[in-house]
Amino acid sequence: MKPFKFILLTDTHYFAPSLGCRGEEYDKFMQFEQKCFAETSAINKAAFQELKRMTDIDTVLIAGDLSFNGEKLSHLEFIELLKDLKLAGKKIYVITAGHDCNEHPFAFDETGRLAPEGTKREELFDLYYEFGFSDALCYDRESLSYVAELSEDIWLLALNNDGNNEIGHTYTSSQLEWIAEQTKRARKEGKMMFCMNHYPLLAACPLFDLIGDAVMPDADRITSFLADEGVHLGFTGHMHNQSIKMKVTEKGNRFYDVCTGSIIGCPAFMRRVEIIDSDTVKIESLPVPDFDYDKDGLTHEEYLKRQFDMMINTYLDCMAEDPKRLMRKLRLPEKAILEKLLVFFGKKLNKATLGSVCKLMLVKCDDSIKERGLRDFLTEIVRNVFTGNAPYVEGTPEYNAFMGVIDRFSPILKIVKKKVKVRGRPLDVRELLRLTIGNYGVDEYNTTLKLS
Ligand SMILES: [Fe+2]
Ligand SMILES: [Fe+2]
Repeated sequence: MKPFKFILLTDTHYFAPSLGCRGEEYDKFMQFEQKCFAETSAINKAAFQELKRMTDIDTVLIAGDLSFNGEKLSHLEFIELLKDLKLAGKKIYVITAGHDCNEHPFAFDETGRLAPEGTKREELFDLYYEFGFSDALCYDRESLSYVAELSEDIWLLALNNDGNNEIGHTYTSSQLEWIAEQTKRARKEGKMMFCMNHYPLLAACPLFDLIGDAVMPDADRITSFLADEGVHLGFTGHMHNQSIKMKVTEKGNRFYDVCTGSIIGCPAFMRRVEIIDSDTVKIESLPVPDFDYDKDGLTHEEYLKRQFDMMINTYLDCMAEDPKRLMRKLRLPEKAILEKLLVFFGKKLNKATLGSVCKLMLVKCDDSIKERGLRDFLTEIVRNVFTGNAPYVEGTPEYNAFMGVIDRFSPILKIVKKKVKVRGRPLDVRELLRLTIGNYGVDEYNTTLKLS
């Protein structure tokens, strides 16, 4: 087969700035946000200019959450960007996702929260018709899924499951039948097929298995089904993180999930993908380019990282300073004892260093990291979960200190492992944390995948 190249981006979350993104309420809202809001128009425009400049690639895939939160005007402005890119000679294939159909989106100005016009799910087919559906080999109007021929050898299975709110973001049995028909047809015609699905199909790290919609609810079943049907590769988004994970099904088939960060939040990357042959796929990660916005003298990467860290720091600050706000945000029961515990641990966290915690727990701590603040370290751990390629693998001073402290709790963790199950598997907190702080799999930015 002929090699084939394309660019994949996701979670563009375009917001039409004229709807309002300023004022005191806006600033408060942004304190808990990982992604940009007022800047999204500038970021999208810069990214699309970059795509236009890539003369060796004419295919662009976008994996959902196209608008900030379903504002009609945001969709209309974003579609103008798509049309412009199409005029420049690019073939564009998009799917929509949860943030694209919302009948009650919001905006902000000096008077507070505003209610711009939203978008119904039924409207999305017509809005995005010419960016996937119009030249699809086949589409499922109800689920907004389709199959497109990217090259004479390669078919894209573009999947959408946002229509089933009552069963969460997953597939009904009739959708699975539709998918099976498509995979069977691809096999029969000797085509390579891969999928694009907004919601992650493999957890970026075991910690994500604990978070509501960080992975599709029955992802294990879906990925086995896809891999055994001959679809060994999927591109996802939604969690705004960079990861590449692989599993092997009981029948011995591989499935890779390449999850890509949002272009409007740290880590902001696009993927350049080259299908070299039906078994070999090269993945490269391209940083989103600089964008035209007042960034307070920071580089665009620093600016996006500052937003990310502000989100983490707001949570941590609230522990000691405004526990009630944190409890409301996390929907925790407003109990006095919980409030006191949050304040207690919040204050400790602000003062502790890795050295002081290790001393307290009788764990050896390497001199090179003794003075490092615990709070700063935990912020980095959280950021690493999203940026991927988490660096603290076995043998690093950080691993020894962190896991040394965790091992002091092993009697409790053994009980948890015996008694608690997540997604049908015993909850192994030690293993979960080990794999959260260090990546032992493939490089999550630049790698060549072998599909069998
Ligand atoms: Fe998103
Ligand atoms: Fe999403």
